[in-house]
Amino acid sequence: LSADDRIESEVAQRRGRRGAQGGFDAARGIRLGTPTLAILPDLGGRNTAEGRDAEAKLAEVVNLAQAIALDVVHSEVVRVRAASPSFLFGKGQVERIAAAVAANEAELVIVDGAVSPIQQRNLEKALSAKVIDRTGLILEIFGERASTAEGTLQVELAHLDYQASRLVRSWTHLERQRGGFGFLGGPGETQIETDRRLIRDRIAKLKRELEDVRRTRTLHRARRQRAPYPVVALVGYTNAGKSTLFNRLTGADVMAADLLFATLDPTMRAIRLPGFDKVILSDTVGFISELPTQLVAAFRATLEEVLEADVIVHVRDLAHPDTEAQQADVLGVLRDLGVVDSPDAAPILEAWNKIDLLDAPARDALLDQAARRSDAIAISAQTGEGVDVLRRRVAETLQKAARIVDVDLGVEEGARIAWLYEHGHVLDRVDDGVRVKLKVRLSDLMRARFEGRASA
Ligand code: GTP
Repeated sequence: LSADDRIESEVAQRRGRRGAQGGFDAARGIRLGTPTLAILPDLGGRNTAEGRDAEAKLAEVVNLAQAIALDVVHSEVVRVRAASPSFLFGKGQVERIAAAVAANEAELVIVDGAVSPIQQRNLEKALSAKVIDRTGLILEIFGERASTAEGTLQVELAHLDYQASRLVRSWTHLERQRGGFGFLGGPGETQIETDRRLIRDRIAKLKRELEDVRRTRTLHRARRQRAPYPVVALVGYTNAGKSTLFNRLTGADVMAADLLFATLDPTMRAIRLPGFDKVILSDTVGFISELPTQLVAAFRATLEEVLEADVIVHVRDLAHPDTEAQQADVLGVLRDLGVVDSPDAAPILEAWNKIDLLDAPARDALLDQAARRSDAIAISAQTGEGVDVLRRRVAETLQKAARIVDVDLGVEEGARIAWLYEHGHVLDRVDDGVRVKLKVRLSDLMRARFEGRASA
């Protein structure tokens, strides 16, 4: 096997899931180890999210690119005074970037911002390299990470949507040049029209598949909810340290013995916590700022586990200059998902990660602050410091966490109905004279007692 063949087969393996979904070819042209340039166009605070630190943002895009195994050979912030409609960058800047592409033999240029289809095409010509923008990059990452059937379909849908919008625009542009021919199909059909039709057909097919998947998922979820294991979901901004913490929490010594979910999904593991033999711990895809709208659904689909969580652990990188802005991003998405500020919202604990990177005064201040809060625990996922405290705190929170459960009892079971009123918070009651259907908010502990009584 040549080096190229090996890379190809590795890519094929990594993308196996996508391949199996039926020819999802969005990654065409991007392979493992592609020499890549990462450019952050800095439009003076207008395009860099809420005045975030440009260098930190550049580091983030480099990190994201590396996460999908691109080889970033050069990265820089390029200050753009006035965005050019045809190239985004100024003429001299384009020449400089082209020189960097040539010097590094780069094949891909990531422009971490919004790049119009026309700018993309012009840049590709001027730089002799493939150009993708932030949306394109995030699509690649989601494609890599989507682990559920729904997530995979959503990502593909978003990808096609993105492609279609690019085709549509260049097509109308072409059409205008040809004098406005309005007919689809027929002998004069151009390649772009054919592409558009293929994409449209594929989108329609995907939407049908999504419907099917949603139907099965609802069944699946109903089944899982009946499983007696609490679910803890790790969420957090990209690079906050979720996977590191996940690995630490699932280290051999804390893994539950006969693992129901151990082999199902790499991002879900059964672990043991003080007082709990089995808790399902789930890792999620990292949150990213400025998520393009067409990606929101795809991103949410990858967050399915969060909706089922009994406790959410929000992992934060306290050593990052934009840690506050990142927190706001994460909470914003959680709010959109309806898991914050709703009556059955799971409690959220904050794991203040990377304290090993702070200097002594900053560290002490942070430890002090965390000690005064019941919902924040300072940790280092890397060194393990504080992780035992986190484990205990999660367990305590699970004990207290309230969940809304639906209970269906016969009218004659007055004692049990009264018990529920006494130990839980009854939110809804439907009484048809034969059955009493209650919607009750119950702590895990009380739910277990209630179920214990049921079987006794
Ligand atoms: P995404 O997959 O992008 O969402 O990132 P993640 O949140 O899973 O972060 P990950 O665990 O991959 O960690 C990101 C980087 O931070 C890695 O280089 C880790 O080694 C590093 N890291 C994680 N936790 C700590 C920590 O407590 N201290 C230090 N110094 N580095 C850490």
